[in-house]
Amino acid sequence: MENNICPVCGGLGWVIKNNGVKKCVCKYSEITENIFNRMNIPKRYRDKDLSNFVPDPEAGHEFILMRIEDYINSDDYEKGKGLFLVGSPGVGKTHLAVGILKEFFRRKGIVGLFYDTRSLLFKLKSSFDGSSSAREILEEVVETPILVLDDLGSERLSDWARDILHYIIINRYNDLKPIIITSNIDLKTSRKTEGDILENTLEERMGQAIASRLSEICEVLPVKGKDKRGSSLTEIK
Ligand SMILES: Nc1ncnc2c1ncn2[C@@H]1O[C@H](COP(=O)(O)OP(=O)(O)O)[C@@H](O)[C@H]1O
Ligand SMILES: [Mg+2]
Repeated sequence: MENNICPVCGGLGWVIKNNGVKKCVCKYSEITENIFNRMNIPKRYRDKDLSNFVPDPEAGHEFILMRIEDYINSDDYEKGKGLFLVGSPGVGKTHLAVGILKEFFRRKGIVGLFYDTRSLLFKLKSSFDGSSSAREILEEVVETPILVLDDLGSERLSDWARDILHYIIINRYNDLKPIIITSNIDLKTSRKTEGDILENTLEERMGQAIASRLSEICEVLPVKGKDKRGSSLTEIK
């Protein structure tokens, strides 16, 4: 029964400190938990931070973390500049994007919004009968001070999905609102995979208008390294 009671404040939410009372850390974590819900940060990534991203020097992670630090500390985001984190699956792109969002909140009090692109499109589509909920979601995505679009371009897009993404990206571009993108395909230039197969680019999947705007407003950061997620599967193979 007593398991859920905070040992520091005994469940009051306040502790006596010096000459007054102070919010207990448990209340603070409750508040941040609510904020992370508002930001739509997935549960799996709640404890992911820039500070617990372990840099692999061989993969050039120190440089990536330095660029991210510079970005957060600069006023680039106010000018609508964003980041485009590109790399193979499992190298830590989503971890970094969540870390950036959380850092904007901690350092600047900015409450952004995280969306896995496919889930966003699915959510919009399933409520897109002209209903107010779809419009509200779309409005929130366009208006939020900082938006993460996770896994953009991971699949071929229908005309409808392309139109929606155009709408979001063009509106944010026009309003100088930054986007942090993660993707496993390049923005423009094709690259060869290990299997020597030429991959598609976002330009091919979403059109030149979007790709050129994104390359104008986003700094491209190639994230390299080992697949942290699928290493055991690779060994079985
Ligand atoms: N350098 C790293 N340090 C700590 N954890 C990492 C690192 N790279 C990846 N991970 C972890 O590996 C898992 C997969 O990373 P994720 O960010 O989902 O990859 P991606 O989005 O590139 O596919 C996550 O649990 C993530 O926290
Ligand atoms: Mg990811």
